[in-house]
Amino acid sequence: MILETIITSVDTDGKAHVTPFGIRIQEGLVVISPYRPSVTLDNILATQCAVINLTDDVRVFAAALTKRQAWEVVPAEKIIGVRLANTLAHKELKLVSVKQDDTRPQLFLEVIHEVQHQPFQGFNRAQAAVIELAVLASRLNILPKEKVMMEKQYLQIAINKTAGERELEAWGWLVEKIDNFYAEQSGENFA
Ligand SMILES: Cc1cc2nc3c(=O)[nH]c(=O)nc-3n(C[C@H](O)[C@H](O)[C@H](O)COP(=O)(O)O)c2cc1C
Repeated sequence: MILETIITSVDTDGKAHVTPFGIRIQEGLVVISPYRPSVTLDNILATQCAVINLTDDVRVFAAALTKRQAWEVVPAEKIIGVRLANTLAHKELKLVSVKQDDTRPQLFLEVIHEVQHQPFQGFNRAQAAVIELAVLASRLNILPKEKVMMEKQYLQIAINKTAGERELEAWGWLVEKIDNFYAEQSGENFA
């Protein structure tokens, strides 16, 4: 099973980086698999630490993908790093081992500290739709436009029926990114 989370990491100067990552649990360890190049990969290799943030604020996913300002972070408690200031829970991780790969190495990390900040609020279809659109928006270069537009249209149903303000804002940022990408592409075609 893959869980969609926000990984926060810092570089050696303490500069925070906030990025969505799908994680797996394998034999009690957290597995993060970043495609190269990745700031998150560089940061984890440099500091040996990372934080998993479990958040239902899907704006953080959309903001990271649309290069909006980094979300508010606060220092981690037991490791070098930061966590989202507002998150349902966070887990502080130390790097245990790395499976090297030229394209997509695997990082195996141990949870050394975890805190529940707020309870789980229940499933929301619009949040799932935003995550799906975020995944599409992170792959515009490799996916056919027809697939992206068809799936976006289907996901829009859950947005229309179940979104709150946070989901609508996140959805809007992603739609803008997708529209701009295809507008630029068609502009290039006519040039
Ligand atoms: C829900 C979601 C899950 C993602 N999971 C991964 C992942 O497992 N590996 C990866 O390389 N990128 C993943 N991405 C894309 C990264 O967030 C994005 O490409 C990012 O730029 C990674 O590079 P960075 O570490 O330099 O920020 C995911 C994106 C989304 C929206």
